[in-house]
Amino acid sequence: MAEPYRTEQRKAEHVDIILQENVSAEYNFWNDVKLVHQALPEVDLDAIDTSVRLFGKKLEAPLVISSMTGGFEMGKEINANLARAASEVGVAMGVGSQRAAFEKPELESTYAVVRDYDVPLRFANLGAPQLVPQASKRAYGLADAKRAMDMIDADALIVHLNFLQEVVQPEGDRRAKGILAAIRTIASKVPVMAKETGAGISREVAVALKKAGVKAIDVGGLGGTSFSAVEYYRAKKEVSSLKERLGATFWNWGIPTPASIILANVGLPIVATGGVRSGLDVAKAIALGATAAGMAKPMLEPAKLSAEAVVAELRAVIEELKAAMFLSGASSIDELHERHAVVSRPTSDWIELGSED
Ligand SMILES: Cc1cc2nc3c(=O)[nH]c(=O)nc-3n(C[C@H](O)[C@H](O)[C@H](O)COP(=O)(O)O)c2cc1C
Repeated sequence: MAEPYRTEQRKAEHVDIILQENVSAEYNFWNDVKLVHQALPEVDLDAIDTSVRLFGKKLEAPLVISSMTGGFEMGKEINANLARAASEVGVAMGVGSQRAAFEKPELESTYAVVRDYDVPLRFANLGAPQLVPQASKRAYGLADAKRAMDMIDADALIVHLNFLQEVVQPEGDRRAKGILAAIRTIASKVPVMAKETGAGISREVAVALKKAGVKAIDVGGLGGTSFSAVEYYRAKKEVSSLKERLGATFWNWGIPTPASIILANVGLPIVATGGVRSGLDVAKAIALGATAAGMAKPMLEPAKLSAEAVVAELRAVIEELKAAMFLSGASSIDELHERHAVVSRPTSDWIELGSED
């Protein structure tokens, strides 16, 4: 099968599987985090300010619609709905990996459609494995990074780290040597946010990424959509028993998102993605040290319907966030940062072990 066709088909399969099957990690680690109730909030609910700055841009709420799609026909409508909603509510958004548009330029419009909307912060997206040569494929470099950003008029480039997915997927890229140096080259010229896609960022990796010059880290931890689970279902369809087995074995591999927020805190802005399912989870992420939280799957479902459905979901999340801020006595995101979170096991074990040098 020709490569562009495979990439395009894979994008469509991912969306279908994620909407039809249960592809969540077995445990949502946000359950282990609790905020301390403030019986005397001393703030007015209506005066609560949820705005925040990320990459120099003002967001009305600390939310990123996480990178998901583009690269197949339906992706255009999904991206348009997400972008319209992001601009209406004032939150950030990322598009999915733009490799598909590099392989097949007629797919560019499925990403470029987001330029039609006034999204306050837009992230382009390329995969770290594509920054080094893979089998017969050339490595993407600075010119490609710029091309991806220009395609959607992006403010920053997400370089996603997805080696868990690569190792369990039938056509996965296997080369990882030299990727940090490649990230360094790109990050020296354009603003980069490094992002995991479900397996989290350890302290060691966060330190290395900071040294390589990335400007922010999306910890993309364990607890939400599991790409091992997604690949398990794809392998099942392709009757690939080894890949099916790998997908099942690594379904719950990774560092829990709340733990990763603390481990990856090396003085860069942190976006917390992975299993965020409510505004209460967003508040927990902020209290643990994140600047914003990212949501993927919860936004995909409404985006298949309409922009209005995405707006409704975003507004509900923001109402939950405000309620959590009110009940914690925080009138701003800065104040929420100062609030204590109680973290129980198993997440607390990860924090304890992972913090040791
Ligand atoms: C349909 C779909 C496609 C995705 N494609 C990408 C991608 O191309 N690049 C990327 O960085 N992350 C991608 N992700 C990962 C998400 O951005 C996010 O890190 C992950 O789904 C965990 O968030 P969730 O639990 O809210 O779904 C994708 C997620 C979904 C649901």
